[in-house]
Amino acid sequence: MSNALEKIYRKTAILLVSAVFFFASCQTDYVLELPNHFPTPIIPDDNKISAAKIALGKKLFFDPNISIDSTVSCATCHKPEYAFADNVAISTGVNGSRNKRNATSLINAVYLDLVNKDGGVVKLDIQAVVPIEDEHEMNIPIVKLAKSLKNNDQYQKMFEAAYGDASYIYAIPRALASYIRTLVQGDSNYDRYIQGDKSALTDSQLRGKRLFESDSLACNDCHSGFDLTDYSFQNNGLYQLYPDAGRALITLDSLDRGKFRVASLRNVAVTKPYMYDGSIATLSEVIDHYAKGGQGHINQSEKIKGFKLSQQEKDDLISFLKSFTDSSYL
Ligand code: HEC
Ligand code: HEC
Repeated sequence: MSNALEKIYRKTAILLVSAVFFFASCQTDYVLELPNHFPTPIIPDDNKISAAKIALGKKLFFDPNISIDSTVSCATCHKPEYAFADNVAISTGVNGSRNKRNATSLINAVYLDLVNKDGGVVKLDIQAVVPIEDEHEMNIPIVKLAKSLKNNDQYQKMFEAAYGDASYIYAIPRALASYIRTLVQGDSNYDRYIQGDKSALTDSQLRGKRLFESDSLACNDCHSGFDLTDYSFQNNGLYQLYPDAGRALITLDSLDRGKFRVASLRNVAVTKPYMYDGSIATLSEVIDHYAKGGQGHINQSEKIKGFKLSQQEKDDLISFLKSFTDSSYL
């Protein structure tokens, strides 16, 4: 080979190698767009977000073929038009079967340390195995799902682009987590107010905000911070006897009976019905529940102590709760 030709070959090889590195780094350099007043979420090193992972996760999320009888997708229960929650108390999975909890909104799930209302799943990256295998949701063994996706040309290409030659069983929940991590929202009127636009809330909403933060209501003792939750597990006095032990199912500690993660109030106007079992239909009834001071369970938080509001004050509080709605997904 002539010297000149060799040089060209070498240069091409270097170019190729750097192109591969460039693309490989594109795979991990996806930057989540976050509102200025939001903290930076922790994304695990072994599942950095990439455009290819998001595309795969999104396709899986909306695909009913990932359930045993091809009728139920993730979006069957996590509907974009309801902020990725559902508008019924208990959603229906395959074969008309129903579980016992209300489907949660997935907005800002990127911030969860402990996933599910009882904190029973420790990583978003593996959470999806639960609905995929749960008999009341998609009811398909993940091994079987992996096999059927392997036989699909389009999926094959997408899995390879996202996770190289990693096993599908590894990649399926991680791709779904990557997509869910992009569902960040923080542009409601409330957010604009927090960011300094003092005209973003109406007078009624400002009065509602004062009530929300008042000593007697103290809603923000639990519903605090950028996502209107402190992420703690609390018993808010929904029942005297809980049919669902909540956090205690995980910790096996009786002091955790009836405790659930403090719900984020983001988009709360569109995520009805409310509470872990969807048992409260409207915001007005939620306020009645707190005003009565809860049902008095032995683990009920002492912060729930009851209060009295005039009709005007109640309307103001509800209109403040409505300021948490961000219509960009709705
Ligand atoms: C049949 C309805 C149903 C289907 C289908 C379903 N989910 Fe869910 N999802 C729920 C319910 C109910 C909960 C609340 C469970 C709990 O807290 O124990 C939930 C909770 C979650 C959570 C935790 C949210 C939080 O705030 O802790 C994530 C993440 C999630 N689902 C993702 C998915 C993905 C991904 C799929 C598809 C593979 C899926 N879900 C399919 C009903 C469903
Ligand atoms: C001691 C902590 C605490 C206080 C104080 C508190 N909450 Fe809650 N809140 C919770 C918990 C925990 C849940 C979730 C309960 C469940 O999943 O069943 C919740 C759920 C809710 C929900 C339902 C959200 C959903 O999507 O299901 C609304 C609305 C709500 N609270 C509003 C308020 C208002 C308004 C106040 C003040 C009057 C208030 N909360 C005070 C802990 C608290």
